[in-house]
Amino acid sequence: MEQSTRSNSPNLVVVFFFFLSFCNIPTLLSLPSSSSSTSAFPNEALPTKSGYLPVNPTTGSAIFYTFYEAQEPISTLSQTPLLIWLQGGPGCSSMTGNFFELGPWRVNFHKAKSDPLVLEPNSGSWNRLFGLLFLDNPIGTGFSIASTPQEIPRDQYTVATHLFAAITSFIELDPSFKFRPIYITGESYAGKYVPAIGYYILKKNADLAVSEQVNLAGVAIGNGLTDPITQVATHAVNAYFSGLINERQKSELEKAQWEAVGLTKSKNWSEATNARNKVLHLLQNMTGLATLYDFTRKVPYNSDLVTDFLQNNEVKKVLGANESIVFEECSDAVGDALHDDVMKSVKYMVEFLVKKSKVLLYQGHFDLRDGVVSTETWVKTMDWEGVGNFSMAGRKVWKINKALAGFVQKWGSLSQVVVLGAGHLVPTDQSLSSQAMIEDWVLERGLFGHPQEEDLSSNFQGAL
Ligand SMILES: *[C@@H]1O[C@H](CO)[C@@H](O)[C@H](O)[C@H]1NC(C)=O
Ligand SMILES: *[C@@H]1O[C@H](CO)[C@@H](O)[C@H](O)[C@H]1NC(C)=O
Ligand SMILES: *[C@@H]1O[C@H](CO)[C@@H](O)[C@H](O)[C@H]1NC(C)=O
Ligand SMILES: *[C@@H]1O[C@H](CO)[C@@H](O)[C@H](O)[C@H]1NC(C)=O
Repeated sequence: MEQSTRSNSPNLVVVFFFFLSFCNIPTLLSLPSSSSSTSAFPNEALPTKSGYLPVNPTTGSAIFYTFYEAQEPISTLSQTPLLIWLQGGPGCSSMTGNFFELGPWRVNFHKAKSDPLVLEPNSGSWNRLFGLLFLDNPIGTGFSIASTPQEIPRDQYTVATHLFAAITSFIELDPSFKFRPIYITGESYAGKYVPAIGYYILKKNADLAVSEQVNLAGVAIGNGLTDPITQVATHAVNAYFSGLINERQKSELEKAQWEAVGLTKSKNWSEATNARNKVLHLLQNMTGLATLYDFTRKVPYNSDLVTDFLQNNEVKKVLGANESIVFEECSDAVGDALHDDVMKSVKYMVEFLVKKSKVLLYQGHFDLRDGVVSTETWVKTMDWEGVGNFSMAGRKVWKINKALAGFVQKWGSLSQVVVLGAGHLVPTDQSLSSQAMIEDWVLERGLFGHPQEEDLSSNFQGAL
């Protein structure tokens, strides 16, 4: 999630009814009544590993992680890809990704009883074929520890140095992690973090002995904010041609967008961020939607469930989280520290990554914040020799088990996916499509495979 809309989302009132015993259905788990001896997690829902990765041993600042090993790996574990997930915000916890989106167990209401929270297995989990690591990034987010507010990153370079420290210490936890291909993934404001750490790894690797390098294999960004100056200028046309605002409102919104663009060009970073927030508030006000994250929703995403779940001391204990931390979905301290970073572009980092690695940009179709048009507009402006061929590449109809799932456009190392039936939180809305997408992209199967003769002949037929 991006942080600034939290105040727009009316909090769901969650009432807990604690049950003293676990329910009978084996896959559903009730929260225990208190800090009694019962565990909130049965063994099968526990992460393979979790705890803290130091980013600065002298101050004690550390990144909290949960790691889930692949459930059905198709190669030996030492060759099985590792996915790393980073949440957006700035300052929102990756535990939302873990327990509400793509992790193997998601928090939900217990359907049969009134409304205690339960963990339910997610058949669309991203750790079916791959290892999956969630990092609470930057420090100060979720269960991560910032020893002082001054140590919280204020720019993407510092974010990347902290992530690099955490990732390398994670790899050292197990000798079999050393050579596994690593894919950095994330959503929303991670459209900044993912390129930042990917770029940092590639630059750093150039100075390291092969045995010291991080084995980066690709980066994937869902509904990302990456090149804000281009993206902020797309809301008005997108909403207008979607029939959500009229022509007069379009003009008003465009005026607000130009202000954000102008302030960004003059590097007035703080005011530029405020101006972007104004654009989004204006769009929210004009449309009266439940959430800009998905214009089809009647109510906002109820990711608050994760907060209620993770504030339980028993849950913190089994996850190895510091029990004195009161879990928040998004940290204001981190949001404030990165306020001046919001409108700064990392497009040049994606241009570097697409030349040296592979890049996936995917968007849920219903998102009005960082959606399809917003992404395609900045991609067209990339300084990359392949961009012309990418723009001309066919947009293929993507089906899963004969049902329409979305569209895929790929050329060379760049892939773009439109996920139908999804808003900003793609894995929450379309878990099986999101799983098929990430698996096929990593393994270069299906529409993510290499160009086949079939493609050439169908282009040729089109020309005839
Ligand atoms: C930033 O923009 C605001 C609003 O337009 C203006 O008042 C302020 O002087 C600008 N600051 C700088 C450093 O240019
Ligand atoms: C939009 O803003 C106006 C003026 O502040 C307010 O009266 C109106 O209720 C708002 N509409 C919505 C849908 O939030
Ligand atoms: C937990 O966090 C608190 C406050 O940040 C800190 O003082 C304490 O040392 C931490 N405890 C452990 C076990 O790390
Ligand atoms: C673009 O595609 C054409 C046709 O496949 C190819 O000849 C050309 O080398 C490509 N351009 C770049 C910059 O890769």
